Amino acid sequence: MHSIIANDYELEIGSILDSSFASLLDKYSDVKKIIVSDDNTSEHCVPFLISNYDGLAEAEVVILPAGEENKSLAIVANVWELLTEYGLGRHDLIINVGGGVVTDMGGFIASCYKRGMQFINIPTSLLSMVDASIGGKTGVNLDHYKNQIGVFNDPEAVYIDPIFLSTLESNELLSGYAEMIKHGLIHSTDLFNKVIEQLDIPFELELELLKESIQVKNEVVKRDPLEGGERKILNFGHTIGHVIEGFMLGSEGMTHGHAVGIGMVFEAYLSTKKGKLSQEEFKTIESAILDVFPVPTFSNDDIQSMTALLTNDKKNKGGKILCCLLEKIGECTFDHEISEQEVTEVFLHYKNQQINLN
Ligand code: GLY
Repeated sequence: MHSIIANDYELEIGSILDSSFASLLDKYSDVKKIIVSDDNTSEHCVPFLISNYDGLAEAEVVILPAGEENKSLAIVANVWELLTEYGLGRHDLIINVGGGVVTDMGGFIASCYKRGMQFINIPTSLLSMVDASIGGKTGVNLDHYKNQIGVFNDPEAVYIDPIFLSTLESNELLSGYAEMIKHGLIHSTDLFNKVIEQLDIPFELELELLKESIQVKNEVVKRDPLEGGERKILNFGHTIGHVIEGFMLGSEGMTHGHAVGIGMVFEAYLSTKKGKLSQEEFKTIESAILDVFPVPTFSNDDIQSMTALLTNDKKNKGGKILCCLLEKIGECTFDHEISEQEVTEVFLHYKNQQINLN
């Protein structure tokens, strides 16, 4: 078991059965417990936990509809009504068991219910393990706008057990790898190369690599928990990634990681265009990422709709679109102004490439 102090909560990586989860449940032995799960984890992960922990025998299980399109205030309000029916008080405990949607929503549900109650995150997707479940961001989408409503609030503890990765579909697993690639790009060439190599055998993720990736995020968050400055580098690839993901919510959908993968390539392209990242490193990033996360064919109308969404990004300030850019692999800087025109140009660059290829 690898235990890390993340701000003031425990973050443990390894088998949950060897973790402090049992003793934490003992601490909460006399309160009600609610497990927040989704259609998938209620079937594949929650029974494993209930059968291993007597402290969960009486827990109520709330099942959220799976999927980013359900990460909404309407669903959250339904759960608050349910918690009220269960007579849940502010000293009771919520245990979130699921991917990023569950840990983001469950954290938000706990943070606002009766002005805030304790919650624990047990992430079951790679995306949630390396990103969503750690760092205290909770929230929901508002229409096409990702995570538009939410609060920063740390969980009581996070237990990261790779055993849950075995039940993931490969596109879900790859989605998490996008955030690991991001951690490499903002931290070191060595980590970036290791993650890219790991992509050849995604289901055989090395525990050490998982820990290293989580440590990158954890260290940044510890220095800047409320995203006043440095934490913004964790948004690399997300300015453009979020508009692609938000736009795709209205059609066939796209995993968060796939959208962020494309967003990282597009933002790396802008980094090179603005004289920062070298052309050679850009080509390395582009070929490694697009191999796994290809760019779909967007029409001119699609591109226009997406660039229009950019103006409402949370990271913007004073009407300016702000973005992270890469200086080189392993070094990212933040608060760079980009224009709608520049983003349109990147989309058109990749659209034209596709036309050339066909
Ligand atoms: N996912 C970016 C952050 O937690 O800051």
